[in-house]
Amino acid sequence: MRVVDLDRDMSDVIPTGTTRDSQLLFERMTEVTLALAEPAAGRRILDVASGFGQDSLALAALGADVVGAEPSARMTAWARLVSAKASGRIPQWVRGWSDALPFASGSFDAAICKGAIDHFDRPELAIAEMARVTRPGGRVVLAIANFDSLACRLARAHDALAERWSGAAPRRGRRHYDVPADHFTRYDLGLMREQAARSLDLVRVVGVSLGWGFGPWTRAVERLPRALAFRALQTLDAVAARSPSLADVVVLVGRPRALHTRR
Ligand SMILES: C[S@@+](CC[C@H](N)C(=O)[O-])C[C@H]1O[C@@H](n2cnc3c(N)ncnc32)[C@H](O)[C@@H]1O
Repeated sequence: MRVVDLDRDMSDVIPTGTTRDSQLLFERMTEVTLALAEPAAGRRILDVASGFGQDSLALAALGADVVGAEPSARMTAWARLVSAKASGRIPQWVRGWSDALPFASGSFDAAICKGAIDHFDRPELAIAEMARVTRPGGRVVLAIANFDSLACRLARAHDALAERWSGAAPRRGRRHYDVPADHFTRYDLGLMREQAARSLDLVRVVGVSLGWGFGPWTRAVERLPRALAFRALQTLDAVAARSPSLADVVVLVGRPRALHTRR
């Protein structure tokens, strides 16, 4: 039985912009993912698990021919509604599962999948499908949350120490380093690389944001003057770019391995 909520919307996803570190994380994750897809006029780009379609729309606005594929009826309806009001190029919206993409082999120049692979029940098959529908020499871009980031490790250690010292019972409810209920996989860099490398020749691995969600840091950033806070967040983001194992999100770019371009 597949355990996927086809009526879900984004209300259970962390709201962007609630804290400065969240704002930086979500903005950079989007910027980096979309840039690595190399959007340009005439390029065909597939957005897998496109959600309510904001990334597909942004890629289309840059001139690309975009298809947003998404199984959720509610998300797809939302994307159609929003794009009907947009001016300029509009993506094509297709209902479809990531592990059985309804497209011919090699029909895209690039495929992206942002913040969604850990929601998939068959992530490796999904990556194989993205490799299949991307032309030889094209690129597959995967943006995945890292649950072994520096912030997760620090927060885990901090909570364990606090509980030991105070003797209090572990805090109830989900901590930011706990995998959400709607995720199937808890990713770290090793697992991302391992799964991606089965279908892709990896050409880049970039980290995004450092320290996100670690309470003392999140609160300190809120107290700093705004310009200084964003300079600090950008500096850590630059460190994360070169140290993906510590980063809050990892973006992997790969070319389809020959095996996966046929079918
Ligand atoms: C957190 S949302 C991310 C949406 C979008 N990529 C973004 O960055 O806003 C995860 C998406 O994965 C979709 N999803 C869950 N399981 C899926 C599957 N097996 N194949 C394709 N999409 C799936 C959900 O419907 C949801 O739209």
